[in-house]
Amino acid sequence: MLTTLKITTPMEGVLCITLNRPEALNALNTQLLSELADSLNDADRNDKVRAVVITGSAKAFAAGADINEMAERDLVGMLEDPRQHHWATIMRFRKPIIAAVNGYALGGGCELAMHADIIIAGENALFGQPEINLGIMPGAGGTQRLLRAVGKSLATQMVLTGEPISAHRALKAGLISEITQPELTLERAIDIATRIASKAPLAVRLARESLHKAMDTDLATGLRFERHAFTLLAGTADRNEGIRAFQEKRLATFKGH
Ligand code: CAA
Repeated sequence: MLTTLKITTPMEGVLCITLNRPEALNALNTQLLSELADSLNDADRNDKVRAVVITGSAKAFAAGADINEMAERDLVGMLEDPRQHHWATIMRFRKPIIAAVNGYALGGGCELAMHADIIIAGENALFGQPEINLGIMPGAGGTQRLLRAVGKSLATQMVLTGEPISAHRALKAGLISEITQPELTLERAIDIATRIASKAPLAVRLARESLHKAMDTDLATGLRFERHAFTLLAGTADRNEGIRAFQEKRLATFKGH
């Protein structure tokens, strides 16, 4: 039974995962990360799930790693920390994730949002990596993903001062793609997920993989990957259906093969 998450299916093809530890502003303790990793594993295997929305509460997407839990781990405890395996599972998830962020997205919470493919935020959202205030530093990709998202200067400022940025600043910097009124953030994220869920799943998967390649390889390698992926899709029934539907002036029905 899930104790730190709520899971719903608001639209066909869309799974919505709500982080649910209100007593700790959704701090990401081992239990929560483990339930999140397990839920994503299930969603990966479930053909009916084509996109996932992850959200929190009105006050907090997530306020970071659970500091009380962290306090109990020494160096060896950190080396053996099971949470790194849960983060790796979240990173390996093969379907699009949209983060719907309201309130605090701090530390591990900001890092979790950055694991998403798309971030939509309410205008009250705050993104930050305050670990430096605790005498530590980001440990779930914060220095790497933030720098790629917002550039060196702003990422360095955020990581070394610990000061968060507003949703408007995050939009300008390219960390998020849209700002909404807070009460509409989830609805907008579900709407985007529903659009993605209606597309050909193999095309979505390969396009996403190709976009991910751009984050960690040089241009020539990325372009080669893209071309191979593009060519592969020529062998799919959904590609034939998509082109035929265009020619016949009707909506395509994609089957996922
Ligand atoms: N871990 C554990 N508990 C947390 C928490 C966290 N990260 N963040 C908030 N809480 C708890 C508080 O202790 C408090 O619990 P009690 O009511 O039992 O005292 C409850 O949530 C509500 O929090 P506040 O009373 O502090 O709420 P606030 O509105 O006054 O302040 C806040 C909100 C500014 C987010 C503040 O809670 C805060 O600074 N939280 C810590 C943020 C942080 O430092 N995150 C980074 C963690 S380290 C990390 O994430 C490492 C990594 O990269 C993997």
